Amino acid sequence: SLSAPNVQEMVKRDPSKIPDRYIRSLEEQPKRTNMTSFSSEIPTVDLSLLLQQQEQELRKLDKACKEWGFFRVVNHGIENQVLQKIKDTARLFLDLPLEEKNKFSMPADDMQGYGHAFVFSEKQKLDWNDALVLFMFPSKFRKYKFWPTIPADFNDTVEKYSSEIRRVGMELLRSISINTGMASNTLLTMHKELPQALRLNNYPPCCKPEEVLGFSPHSDASTITVVSQDDDVTGLEIQHEGQWVPIRPIPNALVVNVGDALEIWSNGTYRSIEHRAVTNKNNARISFATFLSPQDDVEIEPLDTMMDSHGSLSKYKKVIFGDYIRKFFKAKLEGKSRFEMEKMELD
Ligand code: SIN
Ligand code: FE2
Repeated sequence: SLSAPNVQEMVKRDPSKIPDRYIRSLEEQPKRTNMTSFSSEIPTVDLSLLLQQQEQELRKLDKACKEWGFFRVVNHGIENQVLQKIKDTARLFLDLPLEEKNKFSMPADDMQGYGHAFVFSEKQKLDWNDALVLFMFPSKFRKYKFWPTIPADFNDTVEKYSSEIRRVGMELLRSISINTGMASNTLLTMHKELPQALRLNNYPPCCKPEEVLGFSPHSDASTITVVSQDDDVTGLEIQHEGQWVPIRPIPNALVVNVGDALEIWSNGTYRSIEHRAVTNKNNARISFATFLSPQDDVEIEPLDTMMDSHGSLSKYKKVIFGDYIRKFFKAKLEGKSRFEMEKMELD
């Protein structure tokens, strides 16, 4: 079966070598964005104000979901030490020899573990990152054989981090439920057990960052995704008004984005925005993406409350989330992003 090399190992052996499989076509190469040309920034919402159901903050969240599909979350109540600890712990794991890390490697027929999913061809362009994917909740989805045993407190650290992110994600889903015209618990209840997966992305430095991509452009299938990242290395970029806009990391702030499931539920009022990650010459970057999604058997279709009073038509077909995910991953396996998939929207 096909596989992709470990990027970190490749860089360690020869930092000047970039195999053709990583060099993007000219259209795909990330142009070096001039940071100063972006005066606009994604909005910031204050979770402590959302918890009080403060009207102005709820409006801010609503506007962010409509106009950007991305926002920062501050005053989330996660201790800085928890956010720092997961980075330190991930770094200790990543610094292990490859054969140690490969004890947790992702098999070709699984989505969990350390390595690369969606490798389908020798000709395919590959992303400049290595990832570790773990399903966290409900806990019956966990496959502990993929959980690193070094450092010894990896399990505790990842569990603590994921529980805290889950609390923040659930609070956001309550606020979004209110913003979409429902009772605060309705959207959460619709998710059943609220499956949660963690993806640790490690982007080693690259000697030609303008020719490779750390993460190809994509949207997330989730309802929302919550990201924490290194404080001092920019890499995430999002589509906004036809441009790639870099998201500057702000220490201890979380970055949250609307996923496809929420776009469908909101009848397209909230947008699941295409995003990517770029690399740089000098610094490795790590990020932690937590995906909060409906259970596989949940039917998603635009909420009644999101159809306008003139009885506007639903823009999306009803879909069982598990079917959507399979279609989403099948498209990825064929090298397509959702943006090239058969259009979900009805005419
Ligand atoms: C992603 O999960 O889409 C990339 C997140 C990041 O590296 O910032
Ligand atoms: Fe993503």
